[in-house]
Amino acid sequence: MKVAPSVLNAPIEHIDTWMPQLQSSYMLHLDIMDGHFVPNLSFGIDIAKTYQRVSDLPLDVHLMTTHPLMWIEQFKDLKPQFITIHVEGKDVEKSIKTIQSFGIGVGLALKPSTPIEVIVPYLDQLDLVLIMTVEPGFGGQSFMYEMLKKVEALKAYKQKHGFIIQVDGGLNDETLVASHEAGVDVAVVGSHLFKQDDIEAWLKKVQ
Ligand code: DX5
Ligand code: ZN
Repeated sequence: MKVAPSVLNAPIEHIDTWMPQLQSSYMLHLDIMDGHFVPNLSFGIDIAKTYQRVSDLPLDVHLMTTHPLMWIEQFKDLKPQFITIHVEGKDVEKSIKTIQSFGIGVGLALKPSTPIEVIVPYLDQLDLVLIMTVEPGFGGQSFMYEMLKKVEALKAYKQKHGFIIQVDGGLNDETLVASHEAGVDVAVVGSHLFKQDDIEAWLKKVQ
Protein backbone atom coordinates (compact mmCIF):
# COMPACT_ATOMS: atom_id res chain seq x y z
CA MET A 1 0.00 0.00 0.00
CA LYS A 2 1.35 3.41 -0.93
CA VAL A 3 1.52 5.92 1.93
CA ALA A 4 1.11 9.70 1.77
CA PRO A 5 2.19 11.15 5.13
CA SER A 6 0.02 14.00 6.41
CA VAL A 7 2.05 16.69 8.16
CA LEU A 8 -0.99 18.15 9.92
CA ASN A 9 -0.11 16.77 13.36
CA ALA A 10 3.59 16.18 12.79
CA PRO A 11 5.94 17.62 15.43
CA ILE A 12 7.09 20.64 13.47
CA GLU A 13 9.83 21.40 16.03
CA HIS A 14 11.56 18.13 15.00
CA ILE A 15 11.09 18.48 11.24
CA ASP A 16 14.83 17.98 10.62
CA THR A 17 14.58 14.53 12.17
CA TRP A 18 11.43 13.18 10.53
CA MET A 19 11.36 14.75 7.09
CA PRO A 20 14.40 12.77 5.80
CA GLN A 21 12.72 9.59 7.06
CA LEU A 22 9.75 10.08 4.70
CA GLN A 23 11.86 9.54 1.55
CA SER A 24 10.18 6.27 0.56
CA SER A 25 6.64 7.73 0.75
CA TYR A 26 4.49 8.07 -2.34
CA MET A 27 3.82 11.80 -1.79
CA LEU A 28 3.49 14.39 0.96
CA HIS A 29 -0.12 15.18 1.95
CA LEU A 30 -0.85 18.84 2.80
CA ASP A 31 -4.19 19.54 4.54
CA ILE A 32 -5.49 23.03 3.79
CA MET A 33 -8.42 24.17 5.96
CA ASP A 34 -10.30 27.45 5.74
CA GLY A 35 -12.11 27.54 9.11
CA HIS A 36 -15.43 27.47 7.23
CA PHE A 37 -15.72 24.21 5.29
CA VAL A 38 -14.26 22.56 8.39
CA PRO A 39 -14.14 24.02 11.92
CA ASN A 40 -10.36 24.34 11.96
CA LEU A 41 -7.44 26.15 10.35
CA SER A 42 -4.18 24.51 9.31
CA PHE A 43 -1.67 26.46 7.21
CA GLY A 44 -1.53 28.32 3.92
CA ILE A 45 0.65 28.67 0.87
CA ASP A 46 3.74 30.10 2.62
CA ILE A 47 4.11 27.18 5.02
CA ALA A 48 3.30 24.79 2.15
CA LYS A 49 6.21 26.33 0.20
CA THR A 50 8.46 25.69 3.17
CA TYR A 51 7.45 22.02 3.20
CA GLN A 52 8.24 21.86 -0.49
CA ARG A 53 11.67 23.38 0.09
CA VAL A 54 12.64 20.79 2.68
CA SER A 55 11.22 17.75 0.87
CA ASP A 56 11.83 16.05 -2.48
CA LEU A 57 8.47 14.29 -2.39
CA PRO A 58 5.65 15.10 -4.81
CA LEU A 59 2.93 17.12 -3.10
CA ASP A 60 -0.68 16.07 -2.57
CA VAL A 61 -2.81 19.11 -1.71
CA HIS A 62 -6.11 18.37 0.06
CA LEU A 63 -8.31 21.47 0.02
CA MET A 64 -10.94 21.43 2.77
CA THR A 65 -12.31 24.79 1.69
CA THR A 66 -15.74 26.11 0.72
CA HIS A 67 -14.44 28.16 -2.23
CA PRO A 68 -11.68 26.06 -3.82
CA LEU A 69 -11.00 28.32 -6.82
CA MET A 70 -9.04 30.96 -4.88
CA TRP A 71 -6.95 28.24 -3.20
CA ILE A 72 -6.27 26.44 -6.49
CA GLU A 73 -4.92 29.74 -7.88
CA GLN A 74 -2.42 29.89 -5.00
CA PHE A 75 -1.46 26.22 -4.78
CA LYS A 76 -0.93 25.68 -8.53
CA ASP A 77 2.42 27.45 -8.13
CA LEU A 78 3.69 24.50 -6.09
CA LYS A 79 3.12 22.25 -9.13
CA PRO A 80 1.72 19.51 -6.92
CA GLN A 81 1.06 15.99 -8.16
CA PHE A 82 -2.61 16.36 -7.17
CA ILE A 83 -4.99 19.01 -5.94
CA THR A 84 -8.05 17.46 -4.32
CA ILE A 85 -11.22 19.46 -3.76
CA HIS A 86 -14.39 18.40 -1.94
CA VAL A 87 -17.57 17.58 -3.86
CA GLU A 88 -19.52 19.32 -1.06
CA GLY A 89 -17.80 22.66 -1.80
CA LYS A 90 -18.68 25.33 -4.40
CA ASP A 91 -17.73 25.43 -8.11
CA VAL A 92 -16.88 21.73 -8.43
CA GLU A 93 -16.99 21.54 -12.23
CA LYS A 94 -15.07 24.79 -12.70
CA SER A 95 -12.46 23.76 -10.12
CA ILE A 96 -11.88 20.43 -11.88
CA LYS A 97 -11.37 22.22 -15.21
CA THR A 98 -9.07 24.80 -13.61
CA ILE A 99 -6.84 22.17 -11.98
CA GLN A 100 -6.70 20.28 -15.30
CA SER A 101 -5.76 23.45 -17.17
CA PHE A 102 -2.61 23.72 -15.01
CA GLY A 103 -1.58 20.15 -15.86
CA ILE A 104 -2.11 19.03 -12.26
CA GLY A 105 -3.82 15.76 -11.28
CA VAL A 106 -7.43 16.24 -10.17
CA GLY A 107 -8.73 14.70 -6.97
CA LEU A 108 -12.30 14.75 -5.66
CA ALA A 109 -13.05 14.02 -2.00
CA LEU A 110 -16.21 12.93 -0.20
CA LYS A 111 -17.11 13.50 3.43
CA PRO A 112 -18.34 10.42 5.33
CA SER A 113 -22.01 11.44 4.97
CA THR A 114 -21.79 11.97 1.19
CA PRO A 115 -22.88 8.98 -0.93
CA ILE A 116 -20.72 7.79 -3.79
CA GLU A 117 -23.47 8.59 -6.34
CA VAL A 118 -22.70 12.29 -5.97
CA ILE A 119 -19.25 11.91 -7.57
CA VAL A 120 -20.21 9.48 -10.35
CA PRO A 121 -20.87 12.26 -12.92
CA TYR A 122 -17.29 13.52 -12.43
CA LEU A 123 -15.42 10.21 -12.49
CA ASP A 124 -14.21 10.41 -16.09
CA GLN A 125 -12.42 13.69 -15.28
CA LEU A 126 -10.66 12.47 -12.14
CA ASP A 127 -7.16 11.18 -11.42
CA LEU A 128 -7.87 10.47 -7.75
CA VAL A 129 -10.92 9.84 -5.55
CA LEU A 130 -10.48 10.54 -1.85
CA ILE A 131 -12.80 8.69 0.50
CA MET A 132 -12.67 10.43 3.88
CA THR A 133 -12.60 7.82 6.61
CA VAL A 134 -13.08 10.44 9.35
CA GLU A 135 -15.00 13.71 9.49
CA PRO A 136 -12.55 16.19 7.90
CA GLY A 137 -10.99 18.86 10.08
CA PHE A 138 -8.79 17.12 12.64
CA GLY A 139 -6.11 14.45 12.87
CA GLY A 140 -6.16 11.65 15.41
CA GLN A 141 -9.76 10.44 14.95
CA SER A 142 -11.02 6.85 14.64
CA PHE A 143 -11.33 5.16 11.26
CA MET A 144 -14.90 4.66 10.00
CA TYR A 145 -14.90 1.11 8.66
CA GLU A 146 -18.27 1.59 6.87
CA MET A 147 -16.47 3.89 4.41
CA LEU A 148 -14.75 0.87 2.89
CA LYS A 149 -18.10 0.01 1.26
CA LYS A 150 -17.57 3.14 -0.85
CA VAL A 151 -14.15 1.85 -1.87
CA GLU A 152 -15.70 -1.48 -2.89
CA ALA A 153 -18.35 0.36 -4.92
CA LEU A 154 -15.73 2.51 -6.65
CA LYS A 155 -13.72 -0.46 -7.82
CA ALA A 156 -16.28 -1.17 -10.57
CA TYR A 157 -15.79 2.35 -11.98
CA LYS A 158 -12.02 2.30 -11.55
CA GLN A 159 -11.56 -0.26 -14.35
CA LYS A 160 -13.20 2.11 -16.80
CA HIS A 161 -11.89 5.48 -15.62
CA GLY A 162 -8.45 4.66 -14.21
CA PHE A 163 -8.37 6.97 -11.15
CA ILE A 164 -6.55 6.04 -7.97
CA ILE A 165 -8.43 5.49 -4.70
CA GLN A 166 -7.18 7.23 -1.57
CA VAL A 167 -8.38 7.07 2.03
CA ASP A 168 -7.66 9.70 4.68
CA GLY A 169 -8.18 9.64 8.43
CA GLY A 170 -7.64 7.11 11.21
CA LEU A 171 -5.14 4.93 9.36
CA ASN A 172 -3.03 2.57 11.47
CA ASP A 173 -1.56 -0.92 10.98
CA GLU A 174 -4.98 -2.57 11.23
CA THR A 175 -7.02 -0.12 9.17
CA LEU A 176 -4.28 -0.07 6.50
CA VAL A 177 -4.71 -3.81 5.98
CA ALA A 178 -8.51 -3.48 5.78
CA SER A 179 -8.16 -0.60 3.30
CA HIS A 180 -5.72 -2.54 1.16
CA GLU A 181 -8.06 -5.52 1.06
CA ALA A 182 -10.95 -3.26 0.05
CA GLY A 183 -8.96 -1.92 -2.93
CA VAL A 184 -7.38 1.34 -1.72
CA ASP A 185 -4.25 2.45 -3.63
CA VAL A 186 -2.93 5.25 -1.39
CA ALA A 187 -3.45 5.81 2.32
CA VAL A 188 -2.92 9.16 4.02
CA VAL A 189 -1.35 8.52 7.42
CA GLY A 190 -0.91 11.25 10.04
CA SER A 191 -0.76 10.65 13.78
CA HIS A 192 0.02 6.94 13.61
CA LEU A 193 3.07 7.54 11.45
CA PHE A 194 4.54 10.16 13.76
CA LYS A 195 4.06 7.87 16.78
CA GLN A 196 6.55 5.38 15.33
CA ASP A 197 9.99 5.12 16.94
CA ASP A 198 11.42 4.36 13.51
CA ILE A 199 9.32 6.09 10.83
CA GLU A 200 11.56 4.95 8.00
CA ALA A 201 11.32 1.28 9.02
CA TRP A 202 7.54 1.50 9.45
CA LEU A 203 7.11 2.96 5.97
CA LYS A 204 9.27 0.21 4.49
CA LYS A 205 7.21 -2.41 6.30
CA VAL A 206 3.77 -1.22 5.14
CA GLN A 207 4.57 -0.09 1.61
C1 DX5 B 1 -8.28 15.27 8.35
C2 DX5 B 1 -7.12 15.33 7.38
C3 DX5 B 1 -6.17 14.20 7.48
C4 DX5 B 1 -5.50 14.02 8.81
C5 DX5 B 1 -5.21 12.56 8.99
O1 DX5 B 1 -9.18 16.27 8.04
O2 DX5 B 1 -7.59 15.38 6.06
O3 DX5 B 1 -5.21 14.23 6.43
O4 DX5 B 1 -4.31 14.74 8.93
O5 DX5 B 1 -4.71 12.39 10.25
P1 DX5 B 1 -4.80 11.03 11.07
O6 DX5 B 1 -3.96 10.01 10.33
O7 DX5 B 1 -4.24 11.41 12.38
O8 DX5 B 1 -6.23 10.64 11.14
ZN1 ZN C 1 -6.23 15.16 4.28
